[in-house]
Amino acid sequence: MKRTWIVVTALILIVLGSLFSHDLVFAKQKPEPSFAKNLQVLTFVKSKKELKSWMNMMKKSLGVNCSYCHNTQNYASDAKVAKRRARMMLKMLVQIRQEYFAFPNAKKPTCYTCHQGHKRPVNIPPGGFKNFSDN
Ligand code: HEC
Ligand code: HEC
Repeated sequence: MKRTWIVVTALILIVLGSLFSHDLVFAKQKPEPSFAKNLQVLTFVKSKKELKSWMNMMKKSLGVNCSYCHNTQNYASDAKVAKRRARMMLKMLVQIRQEYFAFPNAKKPTCYTCHQGHKRPVNIPPGGFKNFSDN
């Protein structure tokens, strides 16, 4: 009987402990800005104005309109595949900017660095790209 209680108490402590550390983990994540409902990458953006300038950068870099990625009745919706792909690209871009261009006065890359006004960038250099493997 005594051993059962020790086991039960231990289990309760483990459960409480994991709930508590779960809270700590989530507390570390940045809260979503109040001006948007569904940001998964641009969570560091401080104002609606700044969000707009990221959006304009993407729009101009690809040579498209907002509606290429968005249902303009509901910008938070992820229904369009272009938005979901753009989010992946955005995640890559933000990581590149943060990790590899942290030096002073860096001209950090944008979507334009690759896309140059195209929906799909030119990615084969003149003369082709042969006999390479990825790793
Ligand atoms: C190339 C695709 C693309 C284009 C073009 C684009 N957006 Fe976005 N937009 C996104 C992605 C991706 C997100 C989500 C970013 C994230 O998850 O952090 C987003 C998020 C947003 C949000 C936040 C919605 C919410 O509540 O979560 C707004 C508002 C928005 N865009 C407006 C615009 C406007 C206005 C334009 C045109 C000037 C535009 N976007 C052009 C891809 C695009
Ligand atoms: C390192 C270069 C690079 C950067 C930076 C980059 N892209 Fe791309 N992107 C590509 C390449 C290459 C493709 C074509 C991949 C394929 O479809 O096979 C592509 C494809 C896409 C597509 C899919 C187009 C289609 O028709 O399938 C979208 C949307 C897109 N990029 C958005 C963005 C946005 C938005 C940004 C900036 C946040 C961005 N990309 C930054 C290289 C890049």
